[in-house]
Amino acid sequence: MEKWNIGIMGLKSKKSEDSGFLYSPQSSIIPAFHEGRVTIGNLQLSSPLVLAPMAGISDTPFRRIARERGCGLAFTGLMNAEGLLRKRGAYLRIERDDHPISVQLFGSDPEILAEAAQWAEEIGADAVDINMGCPASQVIGLGAGIDLMRSPEKVDRILMQVRRALKIPLSIKIRSGWDRDHINAVEISKMAENCGVDAIIIHPRTKVQEFRGRADWNLIREVKESVPIPVIGNGDVITSFLAKKMMDETGCDGVMIGRGSLGNPWIFSQAREMPFPSFEERQRVMTLHFSLLESHYGGKEAMKKIKRHVAWYTKGLPASASFRKKLFVLKEKEAFFGTITSYFDFIKRRTPCQLSPLAENGSVIG
Ligand SMILES: Cc1cc2nc3c(=O)[nH]c(=O)nc-3n(C[C@H](O)[C@H](O)[C@H](O)COP(=O)(O)O)c2cc1C
Repeated sequence: MEKWNIGIMGLKSKKSEDSGFLYSPQSSIIPAFHEGRVTIGNLQLSSPLVLAPMAGISDTPFRRIARERGCGLAFTGLMNAEGLLRKRGAYLRIERDDHPISVQLFGSDPEILAEAAQWAEEIGADAVDINMGCPASQVIGLGAGIDLMRSPEKVDRILMQVRRALKIPLSIKIRSGWDRDHINAVEISKMAENCGVDAIIIHPRTKVQEFRGRADWNLIREVKESVPIPVIGNGDVITSFLAKKMMDETGCDGVMIGRGSLGNPWIFSQAREMPFPSFEERQRVMTLHFSLLESHYGGKEAMKKIKRHVAWYTKGLPASASFRKKLFVLKEKEAFFGTITSYFDFIKRRTPCQLSPLAENGSVIG
C-alpha cells in the first residue's frame, strides 16, 4: 500500500560533486541538543527523536538500527486495519527487542480500527497511531488517511471507539489539511485531545502539496499552543541542527524523522552529541543492516532490500554513483560485499576525512 516514491519525494540538499553531503575533517560542530523527556500517555521515551512510519522501509531491521543509534520510538509503516485482522501474525510480528514500537493503522471503520488496535496491543505494541495524513489514492479511496481530515465527525467516532478499546497510548498523525483553503490541523488536534488521544504528530503539508514545497513549521507551533498533550513535529528534518531548530522554534515536544534517517540513522545519535560516523562505522552498519535483513527476510529478499539502503548509506561519498552502478547488477552476497569492501578501501585511501552535516538552516531544502 505504499505510494511514496523515494526518487521524487522532494527532499533536496546542497550538492557537492555527486552528493548531498559536504566534506570536512572529523567535525565537532554538533548542536547542543536539549534532551527533553517526552511522555506519551504512560510511555516515557528515552529521546525526543522518533523514527517516522515509512512503508516498506521502517521495518524491523531498520527500526533496530535506528533505535541502537538513539531513536526514542519507532513506528511501523501504515497497515490496513482490515488486512491486519485478516492476516494477523502473517502481517505483523513484534520481536522481543523491537521496542518501543508504535503500530500505525489506517482505515475508516471505527469498529475495525478499534479491533485491529486491540490486537496490536495484545501482541505487544507499546502504542498505536492512526494515520490521518496519507495522501495515496488507494488509501483516500477507502475513506482513510488524509481523507479523514475532511470528516471531523468521522474522526471523532473513530477516536472515541479506538480509545475505548485500548489501554496503551494512542496518537494520530495528521497533515495540515486537504489544501491551503482547508487547513484544519488545529481543529482536528483539539478534537483528538478531547477523545483522549495521547499525542499529535503533525507533518505540516497539505494533501495537495504531497511532498512539495516546505513543511510549514508555524503550524506545528499553532498545534502545540492549542493542545496540552505532546506534539511531535515532522517535516524536512535532515540534520540534528534542524531537529533542534524545530524544537526551539515551535516548542514541539519531539521530532519525527523520516527521509533524513535514510542512510543516516546516526541522525538520532548526532542529536545526542555523538561523533559523525567514520567510513568504518558506515561500512560496519551497512553490513549489520544486511545481516538483520537476512535473518528477517531470508537471503534473496535481503539482497533486494539492502541495495536501496546501500544507495542511501553511500550517497555523497566520492565516486558513489559509479560504485552503485557496479553494485546493483550483483546478485551474489560474496561479490556484493567484496565490491563494498574494495570501494571503502578506495575512498579511505582517497579521502582521509569524514562526512559533515549539511548546513543548519532550512535553505538546504528545496
Ligand atoms: C518512503 C516513504 C514512506 C512513507 N510511509 C508512510 C507511512 O506508512 N505512514 C505515514 O504516516 N507516513 C509515511 N510517510 C511520510 C513520513 O512518515 C513523513 O511524514 C514524511 O516523510 C515527512 O517527514 P520527513 O521530511 O522527515 O521525511 C512516508 C514517507 C516516505 C518517504
